[in-house]
Amino acid sequence: MLRKALPLLLLFLLFPLLSCRVSHLEKIEFLIGVSNSSMLEEWRIQLNRELKEEADRYPFLSVIFTDAASSTEKQMEDIDKLMGFGIDLLIISPCDVERMTPVISGIYGTIPVIILDRVVDGYDYTLFIGPDNENIGRLGALALHRLLGAEGGRVLEISGPLDQLSSRSRSRGLHREAESRYPAIRLGEPLIVTPQNRDRAEDLLLENPGLLDDIDAIYTHTDGLALGVSRALVALGRRDIPIVGTDSPSGESGSGDLVAQGLIHSSVESSTGGREAVRFALDILNRRTGVPKQVILRSRIVSGESRDLGEGTLLPRERGSGITLGYAQVGTESQWRVSNTKSIIQAAKEFDIDLIYRDADQNQEAQIAHLREFIRRRVDVILLSPIVEEGYEEVLREAREAAIPVLLSDRKINSPDEELYMTFIGGDFREEGRRAARWILRQYGDKGARILELWGTSGATPTVERHEGFAEIIDGEGPYRILFSGTGDFTREGGYAIVADYLQSHVPSGVEVIFAHNDDMILGAIDAIRERGLKPGEDIKLISVDGTRAALSALRKGEMNFVVECTPLLGDQVMKAVMDLMQGKDLPMRIVTDERTFTAEQVDDSLIRRRSY
Ligand code: AHR
Repeated sequence: MLRKALPLLLLFLLFPLLSCRVSHLEKIEFLIGVSNSSMLEEWRIQLNRELKEEADRYPFLSVIFTDAASSTEKQMEDIDKLMGFGIDLLIISPCDVERMTPVISGIYGTIPVIILDRVVDGYDYTLFIGPDNENIGRLGALALHRLLGAEGGRVLEISGPLDQLSSRSRSRGLHREAESRYPAIRLGEPLIVTPQNRDRAEDLLLENPGLLDDIDAIYTHTDGLALGVSRALVALGRRDIPIVGTDSPSGESGSGDLVAQGLIHSSVESSTGGREAVRFALDILNRRTGVPKQVILRSRIVSGESRDLGEGTLLPRERGSGITLGYAQVGTESQWRVSNTKSIIQAAKEFDIDLIYRDADQNQEAQIAHLREFIRRRVDVILLSPIVEEGYEEVLREAREAAIPVLLSDRKINSPDEELYMTFIGGDFREEGRRAARWILRQYGDKGARILELWGTSGATPTVERHEGFAEIIDGEGPYRILFSGTGDFTREGGYAIVADYLQSHVPSGVEVIFAHNDDMILGAIDAIRERGLKPGEDIKLISVDGTRAALSALRKGEMNFVVECTPLLGDQVMKAVMDLMQGKDLPMRIVTDERTFTAEQVDDSLIRRRSY
């Protein structure tokens, strides 16, 4: 207690922005340090406001705020000071992601770290909460389309420096969406505003009014920029040019007001994640289970007088237990799937939620029929693990018309209409593919290797994304060659069939490594390799994704070489989301689970015994 009280008193004298309740010092259990990259934009002020308001709800929690004033050096000093004051957890919005990555990774070795807004490379942090900036850009294109109609027009894009990941991603999303869906929107090179602030945006346009010639609309990457632009338009007598902005935090003086005041036409909301950060910080500090690795916040278009929640907006119903959840599961193709089903059923019991469970046996028509059955029975919520990404839009629209919210778990659907589902809860399949590829790279270096890739079900998210992540690093050109890739449908038989066929028809096979998209297929591959009189794990190196007990046992025995975890234990997170939804809380767009990797050295018998799947 003394350890926290003394530095806190000192801090009270030193930091004007200190937010601890001194009268409650003796009750403080947790001290959180916040390192904000700057306090220049309304969005960042709103972030601190939300953090403080949420923290104020817990008398045993105290927060120290620091402002790095856009300087990485200052941010490093701030963090040193916060650490010196004995904080229990750090919440940071980094100035410069690249330079802060090693610093964050060092802190993560000591205390939990929640990163806000800009994600750092790798997984050396406790939790990331932030927006999907590419998606924000895509929504920007949709907002422009709604504004300009089918005729489209010329749009001036105004951005911060493109060496910032967030600006690059927003720009990429905007251009990709405009090109593919709204070709009538004509975009040129963005106008870059450095430093990225309101006044500089205003000055740039006042100095270069010609930039506005033949422009039908302006898209800005932040509402701060939008405010500067709108001032310049007033001064230049060009209020006829409408502006679509980005950010819109909803504080008292929030820039969402810009829409209400008619200064901008619409804006793509980018939530700050401040409240979520405090709630998750408490879960982390209290060592609660089921804390995800990433929480990706949902963005929406704000236009007119109110927030646009899309057609068929789902109104929250105030219900506690007694909720009926219709659960449309893929099938029983793998050990992962069986454990995933168990986890959902078990968690539903614990949360006292009535579950109607349907198993589609990997048949999409059957799964769509199950969804229609849930709609007919008017369940409160639908939980869908889609077999493939395409083909669900129609039935999900029917669910929306019936005001039944849908949660996606494990796999995603491919649809531009993000209002078809409330959230997605699952793993980062792309990162899983990258992790497998990185291991191969570490083993074979410049020498390269000849590889077989065993794909899961065609068109399913884990297949698409694991392959994409793998191919980002191993593109099959140069010294790393993909000899063959085939679809084993995530089953043991499927994995066996591909490898047995390949080894039979190619003698000598030349295969050095097999990467399978799941454990069951690699176990089938092990059977096939043995049948040919070869030693799995020695003659051919084997890698797979999931981390089931069977795969970890094979790893321990040396029959496999590397396992990338993908947890099927989604039950708790799903039920928490169902409860939040029924209590009217906003759900993030994506909740990404925490996962690790295993080499043989990291696996012992007790770990295998403790493994629940
Ligand atoms: O969607 C998750 C994947 O589906 C698992 O990795 C695989 O085992 C399962 O069948």
